[in-house]
Amino acid sequence: NTVKPDTLPKAENGAPSEITLDNFEDLSAISKNDDSTHFTIFGYARSKMTDAELRHMVSKTLTCRIDKRENCSEKMEEFLKRCFYHSGQYDSEENFMELDKKLKQHEGSRVSNRLFYLSIPPNIFLDVVKCASKSASSMNGWTRVIVEKPFGRDSESSAALTRGLKQYLVEDQIFRIDHYLGKELVENLSVLRFSNLVFEPLWSRQYIRNVQLIFSEDFGTEGRGGYFDGYGIIRDIMQNHLLQILALFAMETPISLEAEDIRNEKVKVLRSMKPLQLEDVVMGQYKSHTKGGMTYPGYTDDKTVPKDSVTPTFAAAALFINNARWDGVPFLMKAGKALHTKRAEIRVQFRHVPGNLYKGSFGTDLDRATNELVIRVQPDEAIYLKINNKIPGLGMRLDRSNLNLHYAARYSKEIPDAYERLLLDAIEGERRLFIRSDELDAAWSLFTPLLKELEEKRIAPELYPYGSRGPVGAHYLAAKYNVRWGDLS
Ligand code: BG6
Repeated sequence: NTVKPDTLPKAENGAPSEITLDNFEDLSAISKNDDSTHFTIFGYARSKMTDAELRHMVSKTLTCRIDKRENCSEKMEEFLKRCFYHSGQYDSEENFMELDKKLKQHEGSRVSNRLFYLSIPPNIFLDVVKCASKSASSMNGWTRVIVEKPFGRDSESSAALTRGLKQYLVEDQIFRIDHYLGKELVENLSVLRFSNLVFEPLWSRQYIRNVQLIFSEDFGTEGRGGYFDGYGIIRDIMQNHLLQILALFAMETPISLEAEDIRNEKVKVLRSMKPLQLEDVVMGQYKSHTKGGMTYPGYTDDKTVPKDSVTPTFAAAALFINNARWDGVPFLMKAGKALHTKRAEIRVQFRHVPGNLYKGSFGTDLDRATNELVIRVQPDEAIYLKINNKIPGLGMRLDRSNLNLHYAARYSKEIPDAYERLLLDAIEGERRLFIRSDELDAAWSLFTPLLKELEEKRIAPELYPYGSRGPVGAHYLAAKYNVRWGDLS
């Protein structure tokens, strides 16, 4: 991604000034006017591969979503021509120097901006960042690094990783990606809340009974057991994806939509929460199940998973935010693999209507009469509000109905993938949807004591059949706080 040299601040001798950590921010502004025709993608890994082989590999999953009037195959061909490959070791400065040389050939005399995307295990992050920053960072544009989770396993390892990264990069060069923040409906959370008068006044303990953050997948850890066993569902989904949604949901109104203002508010929410207690968590692990003549394997049937593994593939937890807005409101999280369905949603259950005139119409089950706002993040994106309505007719019978915003029916445009949005943001230097290091520290402090206790005591998870609704313990946990899971009622 390159810009023309004459747009750069000039040093006294007229040459582009050297880019230091202090002025690279000015340069990111320049990148917005860049010339995107000078753009290349390099794959870098240890395996040997030619450019043609890489292009072939990419072409197998490349899709085309341009205006149908344009020629897709031409566009794809054009894209593939920009893809190259360089084989090298992760800890070899020499190999990164070779990469630098190739990059320079493509950049020519233009100013270059370089974005490194590290989709690698955390134990080699530092080697790569060291080599890339020493031998392959841009000399006249910006250099940024996107890092994928897991950012460590607990507070200590995450802090060590951050310290390590900061030897070579400043915080503004580091883009910690959490792809759930790039999902359309998660981005929309603030719009829904802050641009509609009907929601924001209700957004507190005064009207909200509980909030549920639900993630479920209808497949197991197939093929990823080796990685997963070292992390478990709490680190894989709750500590990042669900907690990030919670922070966005519960934050106070930021003073602006600027990245720092939003991240300041998110971090305050995380710091207002108390670390998760063992008694507020239920863990499960899926076991083999036969249905319709098919046998689905259990988690420990995976050859890369130890037979006696106690790693949870399901967890439910109750968290609380100790501030004036949310005091006493349970935020229930539930995340699991190999469940009956694939779904990610936020459910907001409102309080009972005081002195409800229609109380009699709901029998003894008053909970069924409360409003519920559902934000379905995926699949089939939707926002709907459950309300009580009179069934048309001469009598007075009430019914629960949905005010429904169904994205597929309302919007004809395809929803971009979370990674599309986030990659573009990183290129444009937009940090709003990336995790700052203090957010990360706060997130780990909520889960680290529990994770340590679980590992020390080797607490066995409750087994649940593949394809089921998960362990029954999740219901007891919710019932302890007078909650009923909205996705099961
Ligand atoms: C990843 C987790 O971060 O998110 C995976 O490591 C999970 O275990 C995935 O399957 C889910 O992402 P999505 O976008 O498919 O819901």
